[in-house]
Amino acid sequence: MAKLIIVSNRLPVKLQEKEGRLDFKPSEGGLATGLGSIYKKKNNLWIGWPGMVVEETDQQEDIVENLHGQNMHPVFLTEKEIKEFYEGFSNETLWPTFHYFSQYAIYEQQLWETYVEVNQKYCDEVMKVAEPDDTIWVHDYQLLLLPSMLREKLPDTTIGFFQHIPFPSYEVFRLLPWRKELLEGMLGSDLIGFHTYDDMRHFLSSVNRLVGHGSTHGWINTGNRSLLVDSFPMGIDYEKYEQTADSEEVKKREKMYRNNLHSKKIILSIDRLDYSKGIPQRLQAFELFLKRYPEFHEKVTLVMLVVPSRDAVEKYKELKEEVDELVGRINGEYSHMNWNPIQYFYRSYPLETLSAFYRMADVALVTPMRDGMNLVCKEYVASKLDQTGVLILSEMAGASKELSEALLINPNDINQLVETLHTALTMPEDMQKQHMQHMQDSLRRYNIHHWVSMFMDRLSYVKIKQLSMA
Ligand code: UDP
Ligand code: G6P
Repeated sequence: MAKLIIVSNRLPVKLQEKEGRLDFKPSEGGLATGLGSIYKKKNNLWIGWPGMVVEETDQQEDIVENLHGQNMHPVFLTEKEIKEFYEGFSNETLWPTFHYFSQYAIYEQQLWETYVEVNQKYCDEVMKVAEPDDTIWVHDYQLLLLPSMLREKLPDTTIGFFQHIPFPSYEVFRLLPWRKELLEGMLGSDLIGFHTYDDMRHFLSSVNRLVGHGSTHGWINTGNRSLLVDSFPMGIDYEKYEQTADSEEVKKREKMYRNNLHSKKIILSIDRLDYSKGIPQRLQAFELFLKRYPEFHEKVTLVMLVVPSRDAVEKYKELKEEVDELVGRINGEYSHMNWNPIQYFYRSYPLETLSAFYRMADVALVTPMRDGMNLVCKEYVASKLDQTGVLILSEMAGASKELSEALLINPNDINQLVETLHTALTMPEDMQKQHMQHMQDSLRRYNIHHWVSMFMDRLSYVKIKQLSMA
């Protein structure tokens, strides 16, 4: 039976050493949590890195066997590959460039060469399990060359590609020394998907100007094949978040957290530690809010959950220090015996704890400088069963295109952020419910299952169209 093969750099689970034993833990990040609900179906398979260096063959074999039982297949990366492919080219060249932080990007030939080699390694792993009738769905910026590598080996196979992060304007993308090779790598797909119409437009413009292929209604003709580019805003597993928020366990936790916090109002922020998320800017805005509105002292608490991420990369280390310092300064200045304005947690939490945080929050503060989609804000909305709560959302997140009922802000405008916080904290309940209802209706409908079927239906349509064009 034909199967769906999902390929991404990281598997939805990661290996961890616990009391001398290896254990699996869910991976963080939108790609893993988003697709986590679909790969277990039928004989689907997810190929990716299990998040740890494993050198011994015996151990690798055990892991392969264990993962095969859970619809997964591991790609083992060496230390050098992690350094040069994952930390290096993926997260110090592509990530900053695609998030409009080009000043952070490094351009090193050695990192590029390892990026090519590791993409080839993923191709070899896919070839071990792929059959001609399978559909291969490649995900994200770590594997931009993979679609063309696969196309060379499997000329007629159905290959989809989805990018979970923004695609920058041509003026930014062109700065990359390997810009043409990267685009050519992606063009091996039959269907290329982005979260937003703007990402798609930027991609088409780069293909036109750098590779010389124009497009009509998203169709690109490369000379020997046609492929389609389109936007598919990713949804969440709405039911999962709704049901988790309704469980007795989560309600109990929410009550306990609330009692411990004393504050009347709770603002919540949850992100991986990443400069694209605007964490220092958010903290500065909260500091100014406390200065401008002293009547909120002891009445409001910012619960800030920061998930450790890519901590071997220099810019992430620097950010960690900056965030620690800012939290220390603000708490140092405003704390009382029984009130800390910021409750800061630097770790990751299981779904039930996140759900209790979402339930508890009067305001969710989601203010990235740039974000492909941002699923945290959608999870917050899905968890607000009584429909109270206010979402403050950055215009620079892909999700803002769908969630126009949120209070939208420009994360660079600190004054706007302060005033919007005040508006959110004083918003009448009926207005909160009105906004929440609209957002919930749309997220319930455009959920993760809808997203997958939209992408898959379009991919089948492309294959049929290609035959009639041949
Ligand atoms: N998340 C998690 N554990 C945590 C905090 C967050 O699994 O302790 C999840 C969160 O539920 C969300 C994802 O990580 O699904 C973050 O996705 P998002 O699209 O917001 O940002 P990304 O990290 O992909 O940039
Ligand atoms: C974002 C990216 C994913 C990545 C995730 C976590 O969501 O789009 O590709 O997996 O962040 O980052 P990490 O580097 O830990 O895989």
